[in-house]
Order: sequence, then C-alpha cells, then structure tokens
Amino acid sequence: MLTGKNILIGITGAIAAYKTLELIRLFKKNNAKVKIVVTPNALNFVTKTTLESLSQNSVDIEQFNIKEYKPEHIALTDEADIFIIAPISANTISKITHGVCDNLLTSTFCAFKKPILIAPCMNTNMWENPATQENLRILKERKITIVEPEVGFLACNAEGKGRLANINIIFETAKNILLPEQILKGKKIVITAGGTKENIDAVRYIGNYSSGKMGIALADNAHKLGAEVVLISTVEVKKQYKVINIKTAQEMYDAVKDEFQTADSLIMAAAVSDYRVKNKQDHKIKKDGTPLVIELIENPDILQEMSKIKKENQTVIGFCAESQNLLENAKTKIAKKGCDYICANDISQKDIGFSSDNNELYIIDKNLVISKIEKTSKQNAAMKILEKVYG
Ligand code: C5P
Repeated sequence: MLTGKNILIGITGAIAAYKTLELIRLFKKNNAKVKIVVTPNALNFVTKTTLESLSQNSVDIEQFNIKEYKPEHIALTDEADIFIIAPISANTISKITHGVCDNLLTSTFCAFKKPILIAPCMNTNMWENPATQENLRILKERKITIVEPEVGFLACNAEGKGRLANINIIFETAKNILLPEQILKGKKIVITAGGTKENIDAVRYIGNYSSGKMGIALADNAHKLGAEVVLISTVEVKKQYKVINIKTAQEMYDAVKDEFQTADSLIMAAAVSDYRVKNKQDHKIKKDGTPLVIELIENPDILQEMSKIKKENQTVIGFCAESQNLLENAKTKIAKKGCDYICANDISQKDIGFSSDNNELYIIDKNLVISKIEKTSKQNAAMKILEKVYG
C-alpha cells in the first residue's frame, strides 16, 4: 500500500517509545521505507539495535555525522515524505515550537518542509500545563498534524490524558496524509501520452519532441486517486495500471476508440501528428540526386472525433501547446474540438512544456472560465488538473 513512500520516524525520551516499535513494523509491513532519528534520551527506553533491526536501516542520533558533504539533518529531510514524531515529549514539543535546534531530531524538524505528524505522550499535568497547550496551539496553526493522546492508565500510576494514541490511529492518520482521497475510485480514465511517429520508410519517421512526461504524470496521479487507468502511450513504460503501446496516430486512434467506449473520461495529452505519409515505403529510400517529395495526408483528429461521439456522462480533455496568443488559440480550440476542457501551455517558454520536468498551464472549460496552474513539477500539475476537473 505504501510502496515507494519514505517515512522518517522521530522518537523522543518518553515511556511510550516501546510502542513505536509496532508503528515501525506497520510501515514496513506496508512496504514503506523507514528511517529513524532519536533524541539521546529516547535510547533510555528503546535500544538502537532494536530500532535498526525493525527498520532495517541505520538509526541517527548524532548531529555531526556528516555524509557526502551534506549535514545529517538536511540529508534526513531530503528523502522523507513525512516526519512522524511519536512519542513526542513535552520538552521536544516546546523546543520545536520555538525553533530550538539542539539535537539531530529538533534540527531535522526545523529543516523539514513536508508534512509533519506528532503524537504526544506525557503525564496529565504536563499535558494540561498552559505552556504545553499554548505550544500545541501554535503547532496546529502551523499545520502540524497532532494525534492527541488518550485518556487512560499512565506509567506514573495516574489515570488521565497523556497516553500515546493507539498506534493504528497514528498509522491511519499518516496514511491519509500520504495517500490522497480516492476521488476517482470507480472511474475509468483513458490517457494518451508521448509523440506519435509516422513512418516514411523502413528506417525514417516524422515525429515530435514530446517526452510523454505530462501524460504519464496524469496517469500516475489518476491511478493514485483510485481510477482504473488505461495509458495509451508512444513511450514504453511499465506501470501498475494498463499500458497500451502504440507508435502512429492511426494506432492511437484505434486504441482510444476501443477503450473510450467503456470509459468515463479521456485525456488527450499526447502530441499527435496531424499528418501521415501517403505512400510509406517498406524499404529504405535511396537518394538519387533528385529532390524527394513526400506527400502527407491528414490523420484523424482523435480529440475531435471522441468529443463528437462522447456520451453526456463522459468528459473529454484536450491539450494545446502554443507558441503565441496562448489563451486566444486555446479558446478557439475548445470550440473547434468540442471537448469539455483544454489545458493550454506556452511552448515558447524554455523551462516548461515539452521535454521539461515542469509545466505552467491554463485550464479552460466550455464556458471559457480560465484557471491557472502556476509553474510546478509535471507530477504536481497533473494532480492539480485532476483535482480541478474531477474534484
Ligand atoms: O490542434 P492541435 O494539434 O493543437 O490539438 C491538440 C490536441 O488535440 C491535443 O489534445 C492532442 O492530443 C489532440 N490531437 C488529436 N489528434 C490529432 C491531433 C491532435 O487528438 N490528430
């Protein structure tokens, strides 16, 4: 379930540290990679060997164990998708609220920019102390997720609030942060990616510079959101969802037509050649000193054709890459093609679009309402497109 996720678990010196062993096991069981950072006090409650055996990773305590010229607290922040501090003591809560960086765990917190979850554990009086409560209020305001302690029997022989939350609740809360809500569950989405290749002869073709990254990012994210994805791609990729490899616009057309019948949605992110060679040669064309004339004939416009036959409950999204008058051309295109949305990107800007890892887009709907997706990675842009259209 959590394949590919990197979990950084922080442990402070609180009695419930032994319960974190179960949390580590849960993440490992769900295929996540686990890295552990502890405060020196935590090792009074659990041993480094136990933590290393369960996480199958080295445990970090020292702040100045510099690896590959990267300070340890920065190295730890790079890989992790989430930082979970469980249990977190009143002392560490106070330090992280006020930016104290006196050990590896607190320094890592200060440098961490991705989601953070804390699960406090302490004596009831320490929990109720106004300083602790004020610190928690500030942390909440800073969008730190707090899994509150439970009421119960405490290690100090008292009864009250302060017992570390149930490990399953901490795990589920983290999972919900890591895996977005499955808004596309039950929906079939067909997505095209890459640039088509039109054969001229046995060795030559007419192609374009599309890398397929945007279409693949859309397919990856639709899959994450629970959709049944069919990726029709000119780029060969191995995925956990169905991938149909094609080369030409005609092959793409046939595959799209077939899959679209049972789909809820089609996203045409591929750069499809408008023309193909009329008389393509099975053998390599030899030069003979005279100009070579190649006659081109039009390919079917897949986006337009599918928009014509789409049923009322089907959504069709097209892309347009323009080098000038981006919005004007996009508005004309949505009317011409008859699709529900057009995602427009400006290919005159070097650092976005085509082969780049980043993109900046405008999404235009049938009523010509425009929303902008600011420059971001294609993965993030893909998620934003899906949330905008299906959210
Ligand atoms: O007209 P233009 O090629 O700019 O339109 C781009 C959009 O149309 C893209 O969504 C592309 O995937 C789609 N398209 C198509 N069939 C073609 C040409 C483009 O579906 N033959």
